[in-house]
Amino acid sequence: MAKEHFKIIPVKKILENTASHFNNVSLDTISSSDLDNLRNWKNAHRKYFFLKSIITKKMQLQWFEEFKQRDDDYMFILNYEENKIGCIGYRLLDGLVDIYNVILGNKSFASKGLMSFAIKLLCSYILDNYKSDITVRVLLDNPARKWYEKNGFEEVGVKSDYVLMKFNADNFKFIKYNILPL
Ligand SMILES: CC(C)(COP(=O)(O)OP(=O)(O)OC[C@H]1O[C@@H](n2cnc3c(N)ncnc32)[C@H](O)[C@@H]1OP(=O)(O)O)[C@@H](O)C(=O)NCCC(=O)NCCS
Repeated sequence: MAKEHFKIIPVKKILENTASHFNNVSLDTISSSDLDNLRNWKNAHRKYFFLKSIITKKMQLQWFEEFKQRDDDYMFILNYEENKIGCIGYRLLDGLVDIYNVILGNKSFASKGLMSFAIKLLCSYILDNYKSDITVRVLLDNPARKWYEKNGFEEVGVKSDYVLMKFNADNFKFIKYNILPL
């Protein structure tokens, strides 16, 4: 079955009542036209990820073909004011919803809170659609551990080279959203 294409778009009325000022933002499921961005962003940040080798075009294409066949594995592009600025994905892994491939690709949008908004929007969607815990695996030496903590994740276990972090929804401000087909 072909993978569905959709965008997660926050409800504007809710946004106007909150501190967030990101009106023109959405998470869009990837298509083949996003593969170059995904590859370049991942290669540029490979020191923060498990796979350290450079991803070639051929490898990226092979990943995409396999990805299309997998259920419960979604990758999104963060779209902000018509700019593709980063990516974030989730997949079911060992009975957990594993958030992965979180990258701010376009550094001119750094530290604006946009990626924080993206992970909160994605967690809102996941909470609605899955019963499993939301987790992320972060390499021990990645300073982004602090970033995940700011966004509601807590460290629950340390392995040889990564820390497992779990999302705590207790004080989470759910972002209301709509799903639109792409
Ligand atoms: C983690 C990442 C997505 C955050 O992107 P961002 O758009 O800069 O973050 P936001 O604007 O949402 O968050 C801003 C806050 O987080 C802090 N922050 C951002 N990136 C950080 C990082 N890598 N480590 C620690 N703190 C970070 C900022 O200082 C800022 O703090 P402030 O609100 O107190 O000023 C980005 O740094 C990135 O792409 N890192 C490389 C890839 C990576 O490590 N991904 C995670 C793999 S598990």
